[in-house]
Amino acid sequence: MDWQERLAEAQRVVVLTGAGVSAASGVPTFRGEGGYWRAGSRVYRPQELATRAAFDAMPEVVWPWYLWRRGVCRRSEPNATHRYLADAATRRGAGLTLVTQNVDGLHLRAGSPPERTWEIHGNLDFLRCAAECTAARYPLHDDAVLPSQDARLTPAIARRLRCPRCGGPGRPHVLWFDESYDEARYRWSSSVAAAEGCDALVVVGTSGQTNLPLTMARLALQRGALLLDVNPERSPFASLAERSGGAWVQGKADVLGHRVSL
Ligand code: OAD
Repeated sequence: MDWQERLAEAQRVVVLTGAGVSAASGVPTFRGEGGYWRAGSRVYRPQELATRAAFDAMPEVVWPWYLWRRGVCRRSEPNATHRYLADAATRRGAGLTLVTQNVDGLHLRAGSPPERTWEIHGNLDFLRCAAECTAARYPLHDDAVLPSQDARLTPAIARRLRCPRCGGPGRPHVLWFDESYDEARYRWSSSVAAAEGCDALVVVGTSGQTNLPLTMARLALQRGALLLDVNPERSPFASLAERSGGAWVQGKADVLGHRVSL
């Protein structure tokens, strides 16, 4: 059987997405052109700024960076790939799980079902208690956006950034480089189980630099699943797919629904 036939027969499909899926919506990728992380006059490396340590030391620098990005995401609209995946999830029901590294919320805004759309790196539209008084996440107020990454927090916005439960400082609901995946916040165990139980894992628009996506690919392959990688550039998933009878579908995310049907 070729990969198209295996995909057509797959009952349990997991789709794993990265920043490339939102590129057509105008949301910058992480490692693409212009992908450096800047705040004020300083240029930070992501590993420096997107950390719990940086947040504790300078929340007035870290929060604006996220609120500026949140503004970019909220001005963006879901694209054809987000909508195709939402339709596929509706058609397939429990047979399709969407695992996304994207924090832009665009899959949910396109109509992907929240119960089967797992945001393993969080979502910019939510905050959590910085002291973890609860693992609950709370929607950020619409006003909590900034026009640029250099903008300062206003007192009105700063008031929006408190934990609604205990009144202490809130933090962005995102996974930082010096933190670990877990189930309660980031659906670690569920994602691992989905990869172990799937017939096909379709990876779209990610460079494969983070831990959980690569773990999922390896687990899926160990269980004999089909692995496909959709990406204009070669990634570690492409090599894994090609070595295991799957395929690197070289192209942009919008090949979903055309060359790759779910
Ligand atoms: P990257 O910026 O690392 O990679 C984006 C990938 O998308 C690259 O492999 C591109 O070739 C591909 N790409 C670009 N345009 C595309 C298009 N139109 N269609 C399909 N693919 C396209 O972003 P991610 O892999 O998503 O984590 O980054 C993973 C994680 O690294 C992020 O979630 C973030 C970051 O550190 C956290 O913040 C925890």
